[in-house]
Amino acid sequence: MCGIVGYIGDRTAWPIIIKGLQRLEYRGYDSAGIAVIDEGKLRLNKCRGRVSDLQNQVKGQSISGSLGIGHTRWATHGEPNDINAHPHVSMNGKIVVVHNGIIENYRTIRKSLQDAGYTFKGETDTEVLADFIEYIYMTQHVSAEQAIKVALNKVIGAYGLGIICTDEPDKLFGARKGSPLAVGVGQGEYFMASDATPIVEYTDKLVYLEDEQVVVLTRQGMEISDLKDVHVDPVITKIEFSADSIDKGGYEHFMLKEIHEQPNSLADTMRGRIVEQTQSINLGGISEVMPKLVSANRIIIVACGTSYHAGLVGEYLFEQFARINVEVEYASEFRYRDPIISEEDVVLVISQSGETADTLAALRMAKEKGATVIGICNVVGSSIARETHAGIYTHAGPEIGVASTKAFTSQVVALTMMALAIGRKRGKIEDARYSELISGLLQLPELVERVLKGDEHIKEVSRAYQLAQNAIYLGRGYLFPVALEGALKLKEISYIHAEGYPAAEMKHGPIALIDNCMPVFVLATRDKYYDKVVNNIQEVKARKGQVVAIVTEGDTEIARLADYVIEIPECDEALLPMLAVVPLQLISYHIAVMRRCDVDQPRNLAKSVTVE
Ligand code: AGP
Ligand code: GLU
Repeated sequence: MCGIVGYIGDRTAWPIIIKGLQRLEYRGYDSAGIAVIDEGKLRLNKCRGRVSDLQNQVKGQSISGSLGIGHTRWATHGEPNDINAHPHVSMNGKIVVVHNGIIENYRTIRKSLQDAGYTFKGETDTEVLADFIEYIYMTQHVSAEQAIKVALNKVIGAYGLGIICTDEPDKLFGARKGSPLAVGVGQGEYFMASDATPIVEYTDKLVYLEDEQVVVLTRQGMEISDLKDVHVDPVITKIEFSADSIDKGGYEHFMLKEIHEQPNSLADTMRGRIVEQTQSINLGGISEVMPKLVSANRIIIVACGTSYHAGLVGEYLFEQFARINVEVEYASEFRYRDPIISEEDVVLVISQSGETADTLAALRMAKEKGATVIGICNVVGSSIARETHAGIYTHAGPEIGVASTKAFTSQVVALTMMALAIGRKRGKIEDARYSELISGLLQLPELVERVLKGDEHIKEVSRAYQLAQNAIYLGRGYLFPVALEGALKLKEISYIHAEGYPAAEMKHGPIALIDNCMPVFVLATRDKYYDKVVNNIQEVKARKGQVVAIVTEGDTEIARLADYVIEIPECDEALLPMLAVVPLQLISYHIAVMRRCDVDQPRNLAKSVTVE
């Protein structure tokens, strides 16, 4: 977790780093801090809270200096306070570190440093690393670069690092293992960051560090080597999104903007991949592994959170259209269970960020066991995207709001395209059905647009439940994962306790919770479960529960039963998740705003969970 920014060049570093941290604040917002070298001297500012708190702290001061590092934290070790905020400065003031990740053996290192006379101000693993590098630097009389490498060779854990050595004030160091770090290449200047978003407005040239690599940046150039000191040629890639796409674009929150972007993001996921004239689906990123997919024994889908919910939709899709056995697993459970995986299995990992630690670890384990590993990722060049054998980018554009919205619908579209392409190759889907679904997919952006037009009504419905303390979400078939996703959205941004269930499971327990204060959001579109779901609604009403039903346009039957209905256009049952989730996203958004919650940066969360 957390965001790192670094700059070296001839501009003033402070505003560049502040702006970069604001862009990365979605990764963590427990504290913020910046260290710059100003006329050869270190200037350090850090505090608990947001980047705006840091700005207030330095109001009125002018901080020059054209080399610096900054950090926005998501605490893992030590409470979020001023002392534990990064950057951390070593005891003798020589080494300054910002860190993303966890140094797992920090206690052992801390103990040995204490024996050597070191004392510590805070509780973080990062402070220990700063001291460790300094200790090596001072006792072994090596360069800062060598000291960093010696230290990192002894460190167990994950790190993305930005480092300054005050004795070498014209160098900026970076290193990575397990946590991402990218270097933006400008003219006589370099930018360093956890992802490309703080860099894009300065340059579109990017170098992603690989695990166990160290970069040394000077105003004259960049030098990358690995921990064994072997030189590495930098591979420069191009950033594929524009600076505009990471602004709020007139919306009050990123989440709202991202919900409204879905007609475009869905179209972008399909662009160039579905050719209407030839009714073909071309998924270039997985073409090489297509034979594996076609002959796979089973597909194991592995993901966390919202991406896991997309995976559950994938299970229905692959089983129905490709007739392949599918298992969907939480990455954190899967990796520790010693699962039985063979070379005939395909493991499909889904991740918006491509950096989720549990998903990445599961990917590595599956690869070791010989499975073919395929990814569905949004962030181009992310760790998961790079480590899978093949994959599909969702191309949904940067998702900044911590609550995932457009990434989910794009993941489901990617899964649908995959299921149809594989199903066709396996001869498991009839031509007419296949064509129907292709047309349905292509119509989705327009249908989502229609759902979004109903936002005023959705807001009114939300108003009625803004004070709820609990909520239940029910759905069946393709809409069961959507019920889970609706509940997750409400929990994470409005802090209302919510549960998603398969509608028919309600009578096996949760029905006991129903009373006149309990809103029940029911996905009740006209599909093969319709009559059964109507019965479930009756059961809720008989117990005086409040029903908000998401129904197919023109449904009058449910309108008579439910307290509120929200209509969505008619569409193929298999494509419904992408439509039906949209009102649920909006409901959670509006309720969170009405409850004055921090929608884009909900408490205790961070956008990408790069710790286990
Ligand atoms: C979604 O709203 C959540 N913030 C979270 O569950 C997220 O989906 C999960 O952490 C997985 O992230 P990823 O897709 O980047 O791997
Ligand atoms: N482990 C470090 C800390 O707790 C870094 C956490 C992060 O990635 O933000 O401060």
